[in-house]
Amino acid sequence: GLDSWAMKTERPAAKSDRLRRHLADLLVGEMAPHERLPAERSLAEEFSVSRLTVRRVIDELEREGRVYRVQGSGTFVSEPRIRKSVELTSFSEDMRSRGLRPGSLEVGCERVPAGADIGYALQISPSSQVLHIRRIRTADDEPMCLEHSYLPGELVPDDLGPDLHGSLYEVLSARYGLTVHRAEQTIKATVLDPDDARALNAPPFSPAFLVQRTGFDARGRAIERADSLYRGDRYSYQLTIYRDP
Ligand code: GLP
Repeated sequence: GLDSWAMKTERPAAKSDRLRRHLADLLVGEMAPHERLPAERSLAEEFSVSRLTVRRVIDELEREGRVYRVQGSGTFVSEPRIRKSVELTSFSEDMRSRGLRPGSLEVGCERVPAGADIGYALQISPSSQVLHIRRIRTADDEPMCLEHSYLPGELVPDDLGPDLHGSLYEVLSARYGLTVHRAEQTIKATVLDPDDARALNAPPFSPAFLVQRTGFDARGRAIERADSLYRGDRYSYQLTIYRDP
C-alpha cells in the first residue's frame, strides 16, 4: 500500500542525505583545504548508493565551491570562503546590477611573455607565455573602463578574441571550467594618461580608479591578473559591508 510505496521512494533519498551530511561534516570539521576526498567508489559502497548518486552529491558541493575536481586525480577540499567577504563580481555582473548593459569595444588579444610583474602575480616564470586581453568595457555603449587581463597561456590554449565581446568569466568557465573563487584586489586613485583618456573618451589627466585584481580558482591557482581603469566621473565603487553582531 501507501507505506511500502513511501519506503521505496524514500530510501534512496535518505541514503544520499546521509552521504551529503557525512561529506558536509568532513568538509567542516575533519579535512583540511586541498585534502583529497575519499574515492567515489568507496563512498558508494560505504553508503550503499550508486556511483551516479555520489557524483550528484559531489557535483552539488562543487557548484557551491566547497570542493574542486582535478581530472585524473580526484576531488579536493576548497580553500575556505570567508563568509562576510565582499561579493566577487565580473564587470558584466557589476554593470547589470546597476541596471546598465555591459559590452566591450576594441577587443585585442595576443600571446606575450609574462614579464616580471605579471609573472610574479600569476606565480609563473617571467618568460612563460600569457594571453594578454585588452578591452574597452562599456556600459549602455559608453566607455566605462579600460581593462587589461593576463591569463596563464597554459590554462588558456586558444585565442579567445572572437569570444570576448561578452563576459570573460563566462567564457573561462564554459570553455575550460575555470572559475575565479577568490581574488586579491587593490583600488588606487590615478589619472588617465592621454592614450588611456582617448580610449575612454575622457579628458586627458582626468581622475580614474585603477582596480588591480588577481583571481584564484578553488585549487588556489592564479588564473587571471587584471588592471581595470575606470573613469572617475562615471564609476563609483559600491560595497555591502557587515558589522559583527
Ligand atoms: C572585473 C575584474 C576583471 C575581470 C572582469 C571579468 O572587471 N576586475 O579581473 O576580468 O571583471 O568581467 P567579464 O566576465 O564581464 O568579462
